[in-house]
Amino acid sequence: MTVTEKPFNRSTDEVLHKIETLAKFEFLPIIGPNKGRFLVEEILKAKPKHVLEVGTLTGYSAILMGKELPEFAEIVTIEIHRDEAKQAEENINEANILPKIRIISGDALEVIPTLRGKFDFVFVDAEKSEYFQYIKLTEP
Ligand SMILES: C[S@@+](CC[C@H](N)C(=O)[O-])C[C@H]1O[C@@H](n2cnc3c(N)ncnc32)[C@H](O)[C@@H]1O
Repeated sequence: MTVTEKPFNRSTDEVLHKIETLAKFEFLPIIGPNKGRFLVEEILKAKPKHVLEVGTLTGYSAILMGKELPEFAEIVTIEIHRDEAKQAEENINEANILPKIRIISGDALEVIPTLRGKFDFVFVDAEKSEYFQYIKLTEP
C-alpha cells in the first residue's frame, strides 16, 4: 500500500466532525472546515516533512494537516494548556493519521528555542499579540 492511499480516512473525518460539533457547543476557536481548506491547500502545495504548529487546542488543525501528509512527515505542535494538550492527544490517537505528531505542553515562547532540527512549514494559531515573537524565535 502506498502512503498516498489513506486507509483511515473515515475515522479521521469522524474525529474532525466530532471536534467541529463540540467546538460549536463550547465556542472553541478551532480553525474549522472553511478556513481549514486554505490550510490544507497550503499543506498540499508545500508538501512539508517537518511541520511546527503553535496553538494545538484540541488537535483539530493538527489532524487536518496530518490527514494530508505521508507517514514519514512529522508535526510538532505546542499547547500552553495541559488539559487541552491532553484532549488533543486523545483526539489525535483516535484519528489514526499517518504522520507522527508530537504534542508539547508548554509556552511556545519558551518551547520554540529548545526545539532541534529544521521546519519547512510553520502554522501559527495561538496568542495574536505574540505572533511576531513566535516567528522571530522559529527563524534560527
Ligand atoms: C485558536 S486556538 C488554536 C486552534 C487550533 N490551531 C485548531 O485550529 O484546532 C489557540 C490556542 O493557542 C494556545 N496558546 C495561546 N498562547 C500560547 C502560547 N504562548 N504557547 C502555546 N500555546 C498557546 C491556546 O491555549 C489555544 O489552545
